[in-house]
Amino acid sequence: MTITSETTTPTVDLAAVKARQQRTWAAGDYAAVGSTLQIMGEQLCEAAELRPGWQVLDVATGNGGTAIAAARRGCDVVGVDYVPALLVHARERAAAERYSIRFDEGDAEALPYGDAGFDAVTSTLGCMFTADHRRAADELLRVCRPGGVIALANWTPGGFIGQVFKTIGGHVPPPPGVTSPAMWGTENYLRTLFGAGVSALRTRTRTFTFRYRSPQHFLEFLRTNYGPMLKAFEILDDTGREALARDLQALMTEANTATGTLAIPSEYLEVVATRSA
Ligand SMILES: C[S@@+](CC[C@H](N)C(=O)[O-])C[C@H]1O[C@@H](n2cnc3c(N)ncnc32)[C@H](O)[C@@H]1O
Repeated sequence: MTITSETTTPTVDLAAVKARQQRTWAAGDYAAVGSTLQIMGEQLCEAAELRPGWQVLDVATGNGGTAIAAARRGCDVVGVDYVPALLVHARERAAAERYSIRFDEGDAEALPYGDAGFDAVTSTLGCMFTADHRRAADELLRVCRPGGVIALANWTPGGFIGQVFKTIGGHVPPPPGVTSPAMWGTENYLRTLFGAGVSALRTRTRTFTFRYRSPQHFLEFLRTNYGPMLKAFEILDDTGREALARDLQALMTEANTATGTLAIPSEYLEVVATRSA
């Protein structure tokens, strides 16, 4: 996973970066993480004021949390992701709740859909992790009808997960010249990305609270299930692994607001934009 640098140079091989990132999200069991984040998708769909009967596309859907949240609000939903194993989980979850949602394998940077076919396009912690931010933003704009809604939830650079990425980047430096995903958690960057493609863009800073038994339990959970962390530990030698674990433990302990267990509020930016007419 590529994490910290804040500018994109023309020399970076974004296709290679994307291939590596795809392997990263396929590693571990992201579905175990995604299920815990369900409330973010529910809140995003509320913020977007999705209307029953709308055609909704959930981009980088993972195990389908936000797609299912949109279906709960009476929308006709399609979810798309480039990790097939996650789509298997998404289909199982939708079936268990008796929702008819189509989940397609596809690339957020080259969506397999026509122009302006969706009333709303959502992405929870999804598009922010694409390799080519410009292409991903252009694709969100392309598939959303004029006057339609683009709704995003993105970790902020200063929030807890933003700090986790910075900590990992300090031990496993990203390839030079790749833009940090956390830039999607800043309003100015999004305004630059979407430009005149959106006629309005509202943002709200929110928090998702991670709840685990202890910092050790949280770290173990992420090392086992969360691809970006699992891969970072995989790359390091024993000494490097110990140092990274120490720094992450320290970060978690400092951010913990609970006594006896773990509760860490993690800041994210909720974004609701209107596609220009
Ligand atoms: C942090 S997970 C979020 C998943 C889900 N939206 C959720 O809320 O739990 C990031 C997701 O982005 C997907 N992703 C990243 N880049 C992608 C791309 N270029 N095309 C499709 N999916 C992509 C990954 O496969 C992964 O499922």
